[in-house]
Amino acid sequence: MRTITWNTEGQCLSYIDQTRLPAELVTVETQSVTRLADGIRRLEVRGAPALGVAGAYGVALSCQSHQNKETGAAFRNAIETDAAFLRATRPTAVNLGWGIDRALQNALREDTPAAAYDAALREAQAIEAEDITLCHRIGAYGASLLPDTCTVLTHCNAGALACVEWGTALGVIRSAVEAGKNISVLSCETRPLNQGSRLTAFELHADGIPVKTIPDSAAAHLMRRGMIDAVVVGADRITPDAVFNKIGTYMHAICAHHHSIPFYVAAPYSTLDTGRREADVEIEERARDELASCGGRQLMPDGVGTVNPAFDATPLTLVTAIITDRGVLRHPYDELTHSDTREMT
Ligand code: MRU
Repeated sequence: MRTITWNTEGQCLSYIDQTRLPAELVTVETQSVTRLADGIRRLEVRGAPALGVAGAYGVALSCQSHQNKETGAAFRNAIETDAAFLRATRPTAVNLGWGIDRALQNALREDTPAAAYDAALREAQAIEAEDITLCHRIGAYGASLLPDTCTVLTHCNAGALACVEWGTALGVIRSAVEAGKNISVLSCETRPLNQGSRLTAFELHADGIPVKTIPDSAAAHLMRRGMIDAVVVGADRITPDAVFNKIGTYMHAICAHHHSIPFYVAAPYSTLDTGRREADVEIEERARDELASCGGRQLMPDGVGTVNPAFDATPLTLVTAIITDRGVLRHPYDELTHSDTREMT
């Protein structure tokens, strides 16, 4: 099953609504850029690589909806406006803008709206297909780093649901299991939206990989007790000085460092952002209601405010290795400082 794909028959984008999991497996089908933007904001579709694919398909949807209404400069302005609107939905994951740019550049090279639509759609489909290949490569590189028998802690969801299939951090775990390793997983629940308990536990359990959910706050205690052998997480953006990932990741990195446990980050090269530093990256702030209530039950007094950052930045000094589709990067992470990684082949 694919997290996100193009429905050729319906000429529309199709993706799993992740807000409904694990209770219901429901697919959203849409031709509307506004509907997709709303779905991205609500985390129906989420996770850095899946957002890259969604962004590219968003440009194709924009071309589709404008192709019979505008031509020339008016058409180009319309799709650039839609692209900017989609890009603004979630500012931290670099892949969203990267996917949008790839599809947009291909569309803008064409002479007619119909050709632009074809070009954007082709590029989005290429990004979707590439993601599957890249995740398997990440998995193969990462699997060799894990001991034959081990317990891995992961945070948030960097699995098939965050990509197209297989996953990055969970791809490493899947590939290790496929290679015959005996891996069990501790999945942090990942408050406040519970991507760990709802999504990571869902997909690993479905695959028959042993998984237990833990409260985010139990990680340090379990490391101290010797119950965690490695941490493997995904990333939303990697600058030359930091890894941006779901809020709570930094705290796991500090604890892993303290207990001499390897801390691995698994991500495709498209997540590397060598042109920015940690201080340049906007951390998305989420709404108060994500903390104020749960399942209809009030968790805070009225009138109390919140601080609800969606991501944090982990200094590279705390990262044992970055597992990419092009190999394993290690200190001093020269690849992040000495070249434009986007251009590397
Ligand atoms: O807010 P989310 O659910 O989109 O955050 C997702 C994460 O932080 C993932 O760990 C990251 O995107 C890597 S996904 C392969």
